[in-house]
Amino acid sequence: MCGIFAITSNKRNNIGEILVECAEKLTYRGYDTVGIATVYKNRIHLRKDKGKFNEVAEKLRLNEMRGSKGIAQLRWATFGAPSKINAQPHLDCDEDLCAAHNGNILNFLPLREQYTEEGHTVRSMNDGEICVHAVERYFDQTGDLLEAIRSGCGDLKGDYAFAVMHRDDDKIYAVKMGSSLFAGIGVGETCVSSDLPSILPVTREIINIHDGEMVILSPQSLEIRRIADGEPIERKPYTSDADIRVAQKGGYPHFMLKEIHEQVSATRTLFSAIREPYISQFVETLVKAERVFYVACGSSYHATVVGSYYLNDLANIAAIPVIGGQFNSLYGESIGENDVVICVSQSGETKDVIDVVHHAKTRKAKILSVVNVLGSTLTHLSDLYLPMGSGFEISVPATKTYTSQVTLFNFLATKAGERKGILTPKTAESLISELKTQLPSLIDETISTTTLKARALAPYLSKYSHFYVLGHGLTHGVALEGALKIKEVCYIVADGMYSSEFKHGPLSIVDEGYPIIFTIAPNDAEHIVNHLAEVECRGARIIATGEDHPLLRHYVKNDDFLVVPPSSQYLSPILQAIPLQLIAYHLATYKNIDPDYPRNISKTLTVR
Ligand code: M6R
Repeated sequence: MCGIFAITSNKRNNIGEILVECAEKLTYRGYDTVGIATVYKNRIHLRKDKGKFNEVAEKLRLNEMRGSKGIAQLRWATFGAPSKINAQPHLDCDEDLCAAHNGNILNFLPLREQYTEEGHTVRSMNDGEICVHAVERYFDQTGDLLEAIRSGCGDLKGDYAFAVMHRDDDKIYAVKMGSSLFAGIGVGETCVSSDLPSILPVTREIINIHDGEMVILSPQSLEIRRIADGEPIERKPYTSDADIRVAQKGGYPHFMLKEIHEQVSATRTLFSAIREPYISQFVETLVKAERVFYVACGSSYHATVVGSYYLNDLANIAAIPVIGGQFNSLYGESIGENDVVICVSQSGETKDVIDVVHHAKTRKAKILSVVNVLGSTLTHLSDLYLPMGSGFEISVPATKTYTSQVTLFNFLATKAGERKGILTPKTAESLISELKTQLPSLIDETISTTTLKARALAPYLSKYSHFYVLGHGLTHGVALEGALKIKEVCYIVADGMYSSEFKHGPLSIVDEGYPIIFTIAPNDAEHIVNHLAEVECRGARIIATGEDHPLLRHYVKNDDFLVVPPSSQYLSPILQAIPLQLIAYHLATYKNIDPDYPRNISKTLTVR
């Protein structure tokens, strides 16, 4: 949710150009409002409005903004409706200071009242504005901006990061208190951002900023200090080898389609990203645990549902998949030092997951995690993490990261099964070799063979405002994931369910022609046949993903059967998710919805 990018430079006067180029790469974090503030001739110039980045940037000619330092913000609205007045950055009362934030200031309303009583002019209903007034409040007393920021942070409750600048100098200050923040050191310029891709046009020399730290940017240098006591912190930059082309569409009409295709390479890069001894340490911790919990949200949660099936099947380990926001109320009191919590997150910033980590740490549980964004909060908090190595995922709907997660869970369960003697080394080797050598080409083949059928279904499915996606056993998580993709990018209530549950109520919805999508693992065709029969005899139109099978052919017409290539059943949760992603993608574009930026949501949700 929300993205900030700020830069100070001694080699640019038209700072708007680089602000636009870099901030545009944060579009997936928020597209309710956009704003840029620059300092030019000791005055703050502010342009902002409601709308998506490119529309606002063009309308307000943001790239023409003059000056040598500036702050950009892209907002995903929580406090305050998406409107020009609530757009960030915000000015202080006398327009000397300007700030923009990412995250939530939970005591925004009482502070708004307090500051207003003290004489501040708080113009908006957006919690981000309170950051600039919190700083101003102390700055007016001391004239020391660094100290004012430290004191201002003492007023604010919540998880946030903000950047603030004064019109009279060349510095920008940024703090990290729970939301992500990365700093970059270029030649004659330094910058900060909520995420790495936006820094790469400026520099590859990166410093990860940690919670409780502030960074002071000047064109020539960058300084980190602890907010609590102001003490300086030494940290060396590293050189990012991230591929910037990944943050571009590369000829595809949308990032979503590009990322669906990138699943072929993502399953390869995963295996070069994970390393020994971390893999063995991860597996060892897992097999020794009294209880294992998988904790995640959204698509990452659906991947963990599949992961739990893998651990049961391949390693006889009962792993409980739990939705991040639910964990503390379900297991918070019983979690203890012999338990392992495996947190799974593309962004590594999802607040519902981070809250679990904070709590589980107080109970001394071990925190393992699987994360895509390195340097994210989850990587800092975990006892041990494994990277997903998927590269940047720009499109709001997760696709390639779901696939990398499921692939990794398959691999880890196989390793755990071997470690426990449940799988012979030969069986484990053959399962791993299938993942490493066959999976990429099977994904490629699946995309080629199912694309046309997925696209052809769009006119029919678009006539329905609701339908079901049903899975069984290993494909349960796939059904949940396929339904989420359709809801998220097509604005259709697709309900993902366990197929045996359907007869316990929802079956009453079925009438002539009603769409039901089944996703069927190869060894499940015979189990699921009565689920197919009970909807078919009531007139449902069955659409299915699965391997070719005579039983399924009986219930599913050729055009509605999105056949995946033969493989071991353990690959089916990966291969079968792909036709569902393609159905969602083509249905969205058929409905003229931009699947990369579905309305109302954001890729990174740093709020509870
Ligand atoms: O970054 P995370 O994996 O923690 O994100 C979790 C969910 O917010 C995310 O998977 C969301 O559900 C996706 N937009 C779904 O496509």
